[in-house]
Amino acid sequence: MRILFVTSEIHPLIKTGGLADVSGSLPAALKALGADVRILVPGYPGVLRRLGNAEEIARLPEGRLLYSTMPDSGVPVMAIDHPPFFWREGNPYLDDRGSDWWDNPARFGLLSRTAAHLASSDSPIDWNPDIVHCNDWQSGLAPAFMKFRGSAAKTVMTIHNIAFQGNFSPEWVEKVGLPAESYTMHGAEFHGHFSFLKAGLFYSDAITTVSPSYAREIQTSAMGCGMEGLLFSRSRDVRGILNGIDLEEWNPAADRHLPAHYDASSLDAKLEVKRELQRSMGLDQEDHAPLFGVVSRLTYQKGLDLVAECAQGLFDQGAQLVVLGSGDHEFERIFLQLSESHPGRCSARIGFDEGLSHRIMAGADIFLMPSRFEPCGLNQMYGMHYGTPPVVRTTGGLADSVSDGATGFSFGAANSHELYLAANRALSAYRQGDSFRKIQRNGMESDFGWGKSAREYLDLYESLTGR
Ligand code: ADP
Ligand code: GLC
Repeated sequence: MRILFVTSEIHPLIKTGGLADVSGSLPAALKALGADVRILVPGYPGVLRRLGNAEEIARLPEGRLLYSTMPDSGVPVMAIDHPPFFWREGNPYLDDRGSDWWDNPARFGLLSRTAAHLASSDSPIDWNPDIVHCNDWQSGLAPAFMKFRGSAAKTVMTIHNIAFQGNFSPEWVEKVGLPAESYTMHGAEFHGHFSFLKAGLFYSDAITTVSPSYAREIQTSAMGCGMEGLLFSRSRDVRGILNGIDLEEWNPAADRHLPAHYDASSLDAKLEVKRELQRSMGLDQEDHAPLFGVVSRLTYQKGLDLVAECAQGLFDQGAQLVVLGSGDHEFERIFLQLSESHPGRCSARIGFDEGLSHRIMAGADIFLMPSRFEPCGLNQMYGMHYGTPPVVRTTGGLADSVSDGATGFSFGAANSHELYLAANRALSAYRQGDSFRKIQRNGMESDFGWGKSAREYLDLYESLTGR
C-alpha cells in the first residue's frame, strides 16, 4: 500500500497546532504497520533547514521536489522547493501582522496540484501512490485536480477543523489551474466562494475526521459550519477516527524537556517538575497549591474566556494558573492582565514554546481545556498521559477521550459557571489525595497510542483500493 500523505505542517519541522503532531506521528505508525508512506510538505525555510541533506529528485513545473527522511521516524518526506511561495519565515499561513498571506490560494494550490501530479501517469518520479491522503483545506484541491486529470489513485480527505475552510474569491479557480466547470454547487463552489475544503469533501473518495463524536457533530447545522448538508449526503463515506499521540515524543519517564522524570509508579517525582515550573514562571513556591495549566492557541474555539471568568474563584481557593499560548490579541491581553493583577498566583507566557508546553503538561496538577468545539484535541491526552487530569467540555474528541471522574472531569454547557463547578470537583479530588492519585494513574495507564487508529486508516485505504 503506497500512501502519499499531504500536509501543510509537520512536527518537528514546522508546527502551529495539532495537525503537525498528527502529521509527524500517523505516517510513522502506518510505516510500522508495513505501509509504504511518503509525506509531501511545502518547503518552508524551517523545513529545508531541518531536513538539511535533502536531495533533488525531480524538477516540477514550478520549483523542485526534494527528498529526505524525517529526523526521528525515518519516514520519507518530499518537500516542494519553490522560493517565491514558501521561503517565508514564521507562521506558514500568516504574515508578520497576523493576516493570511494574500496568495495563500496560489501557495496551497501548488501543494494540492503537486500531490495530484505525483499521483498521475505523468508523475516525474517512479513512485505512484495508491492513496492520496489530504489534510485540511490546504491540500483540499488535490482530489479535484485528480478527478479532472483522471488519476487512478484513491483519495481520503481528513478534516482536522471544519472552521478552517480556505474560502477565496472565484477568480482563483482558473488561477490555480482548475477548469471553470469545477466551480459549481456540485464542486468547489461554496456560497459564492471558491472553497478548498468543499472541493476536498466533494471530490474525495472518503472523508474522515479526527474523532467519532466530531464526525457526528459536523453533520448538524449547529456545528457543520455550512458543510453539514454535503457531509450528511455523504454520511456513508464519513468516519471518525480518534487521533493517537506520539508516545516517544510525549513520555514523562524520558521527556528531554523535563527537569525530572516519573511514571505511574513514581508520581512523587512529578512534584520536582512543578517546583521548577513555579520557579521559572514566577509563581509562589507552594507545593500544595493546586496548579492549573493551559497550553493553547488563543482563539474563541478553545473557550479560554471561560477560564478568565472563573480564575478569581480559583485563586480565592489558593489555586495557581499557568498559561502558555498565542493567537487573538484580545485573549493575549486578558491573560497578561490577569497575571499582572495576581502576581505569584497567575503567570502567562505569550508565544510558542515547545519545551515549556511539555513542562506545563508535566508540572501542572490539573489541565484546563474548556473548548467550545474540539475536533479531537491532543493536549487532553498529553495531560492524562502525564498524570495531569484534564477538565474538559464534553464535545468532539474531548468527549471521546476523557472519562468523567475516571481519567478527568467533564462539563456540558459552555459557560464559566459549569467550568467552575467541574474545576471544583477536580480541586476536591486533589485535596483528598488518594482519589486524585487514582484518576492520575487511570489516565497514565490508558492507551492513547496510534496502534488502533492507524489500523483503522489502513482498513479504510484497503477498502478503497480493494486490496
Ligand atoms: P489545535 O490543533 O486545535 O491547536 P490540539 O490539542 O490538537 O489543538 O494540538 C495543539 C498542539 O499544539 C499541542 O501539541 C500543543 O502542545 C501545541 N501548542 C499549542 N499552543 C502552543 C504554544 N503556545 N506553545 C507550544 N505548543 C503549543
Ligand atoms: C485541529 C483541531 C484539534 C485536533 C488537531 C489534530 O487543529 O482543532 O482538535 O486535535 O487538528 O487533528
